[in-house]
Amino acid sequence: MAHPQSRSELYVTINKRLEHLLIDEKDEIAVMATVVCELYHAFPQFTWVGFYRVVAPRLLKVGPYQGGHGCLAIPFERGVCGKCARDGAPQIVADVRNAPHHIACSASTRSEIVLPIKDADGELRAVLDIDSDEPGAFGEPDREALEAICLRLRNIRWVNLKL
Ligand code: SME
Repeated sequence: MAHPQSRSELYVTINKRLEHLLIDEKDEIAVMATVVCELYHAFPQFTWVGFYRVVAPRLLKVGPYQGGHGCLAIPFERGVCGKCARDGAPQIVADVRNAPHHIACSASTRSEIVLPIKDADGELRAVLDIDSDEPGAFGEPDREALEAICLRLRNIRWVNLKL
């Protein structure tokens, strides 16, 4: 009987699956939708997984996601996603009740991690947002593992933004 995988082992398994699922795939929507599907279904404690894309200067719009309805547009000035976009750096919120800038798409969300997605030129193209109903659900191991997965978006065919 195989032992249940630890969370870090599961991230490695997911990343290996994505390597095969996304081989030669360059379409941004197909890649984002596949990453979201794998993460959402692999980790029951992830209640919302999705991308917000940079669609105009200092404006994010929802992209592929799984979970309840996510807000459609987030200016860089708002939310945990906006702070991630402004800073170009990962955000880990252990308890959203202590984060006044947090935008609650679900009343049950307690913790969140958001990572910047940059293209091969280092330009911010999106953020990956993951919510959990568990407080403190995310830590440095999650950030490192998710950053490794997000590297798969670095060289895809991003739409030509006229920012
Ligand atoms: N919590 C995010 C907004 C997106 S919903 O969680 C899907 C934020 O504060 O930016």
